[in-house]
Amino acid sequence: MRLNAYLARSGIASRRGADELIKAGRVLVNGAPGQLNTFVAARDRVEVDGKPVAKQKLTYLLLHKPAGVVTTASDPQGRRTVVELVPGDPRVVPVGRLDADTTGALLLTNDGQLAHRLAHPRYEVEKVYEAEVEREPTGEALRALAEGIELEDGRTAPAKARRLGPKLIELSIHEGRKHQVKLMCAAVGCQVVRLRRSRYAGLDLSGLAPGKWRALDRSEVETLQKLTGLASEAG
Ligand code: URA
Repeated sequence: MRLNAYLARSGIASRRGADELIKAGRVLVNGAPGQLNTFVAARDRVEVDGKPVAKQKLTYLLLHKPAGVVTTASDPQGRRTVVELVPGDPRVVPVGRLDADTTGALLLTNDGQLAHRLAHPRYEVEKVYEAEVEREPTGEALRALAEGIELEDGRTAPAKARRLGPKLIELSIHEGRKHQVKLMCAAVGCQVVRLRRSRYAGLDLSGLAPGKWRALDRSEVETLQKLTGLASEAG
């Protein structure tokens, strides 16, 4: 991986901060000054200011995001962030985003490669939402949600939509556009009043109260790697 990503994964600095360290000549790779385009592998010896850098353990956490917490690493308005709800060492970041008022399954990791793939439309990772809506959806509305909705940034991909209760819709999508579920439901006349993501990439919230997290087990991580074509590259 790139030297700046390696340093970021080791918790030395953000990628941008790592670039500054590299430019300042403070990073050595196998004894030679690292460059912005240097690639490093497990066998390489990396030092910052003469001290060896240990790679961080890859960590995968599933959080039951509560309402009122933002899905960013820091919030200019000073609101609580999801990273404050999980251990800070090693530093993990959320995969994708949920709106501040949306609750539910959110994955956080320091595995940049897996995070990138999970968020990439190509791998069609399934996200299941339960949307409580203002008005009872008609059969026609459910059909339209499933077939695709014309939004400002284009038509949504086919989805699965079903009624869970009189004013409760379950929507399974594999895209991750901004406010997608709220916009889709609004487009069929069903304003969302509450939104919860019940599953993400097959991971559900069983046993997790809002605000609580758990580490994924090995087989769950392997499943995510398989889903994103990383299984054969994992070592
Ligand atoms: N769709 C939305 O509208 N909001 C979310 O938080 C997630 C999906």
